[in-house]
Amino acid sequence: EQMVETKSFGHVLSIEDKLKSTNAKARELAREGGIHGQVVIAKSQYAGRGRMQREWQSPLGGLWMSVIIRPNLTLANASKLTLAASVAIVDAIEELYQLRVGIKWPNDLLYNGQKIAGILGEVVGEWNRVQTLILGIGINANFSSEKLGSILTAATLKEILGYEVDLNRLAATILEYLEKQVTALEENLFEDLRSNWMARAVGLGEEVRVLRGEEVFRGVFKGISQDGELLLSTEQGEERFSAGEVRLRSK
Ligand code: BTN
Repeated sequence: EQMVETKSFGHVLSIEDKLKSTNAKARELAREGGIHGQVVIAKSQYAGRGRMQREWQSPLGGLWMSVIIRPNLTLANASKLTLAASVAIVDAIEELYQLRVGIKWPNDLLYNGQKIAGILGEVVGEWNRVQTLILGIGINANFSSEKLGSILTAATLKEILGYEVDLNRLAATILEYLEKQVTALEENLFEDLRSNWMARAVGLGEEVRVLRGEEVFRGVFKGISQDGELLLSTEQGEERFSAGEVRLRSK
């Protein structure tokens, strides 16, 4: 049993053997009155979902977790929650395994260019009425990446470290960092998060392409703005993009 040293995150927690998707389950729980910081974990998912309607392979051995977030934040600030989650996961992985993890905009976690974790934030209902976000966190932990029949290059913690990690400890540590990050955002403290995010950002200062549908923007990746948008310096000047609308590619 793992003690979670948080004020509220993870105090209400359910662990299921198999779910369609922990995000779908957390959404149901949120509709039924689920509380801020409530957590659902599944040992495996049979219809896990990634960003941009992609499938997310979720075999046994991974950490598949969703957190109900009901923060005191405006919708304009809600996108910062997924940035907060990326930094929380990076901090947890660095603390527990001393691995240097990079963040690829907006919140893919990479080790040596290979994806080890992803985050899916989904707003439930109308933000102003219920103000609920489901933060879905997927970490490729204790399985072989051969199980991921994906075109993306992925890696798992077990492959990188050469041993199996303790999933309870990993979940608990992420929740501790996440609670701190979310609380800081509620107190309007974005600067620390912004600089921590940028310190880990992959491709910062490099020439990149930003894809918005069919449109391509070329420029230098400058980081994220005070509003949590991607900042691109182009020949025409500075452009800003929100996380939902664009993809970032190397030159
Ligand atoms: C991505 O990188 O595309 C985001 C992946 C998010 C996967 C997690 S696993 C737990 C939660 N449940 C889901 O169905 N998806 C998220």
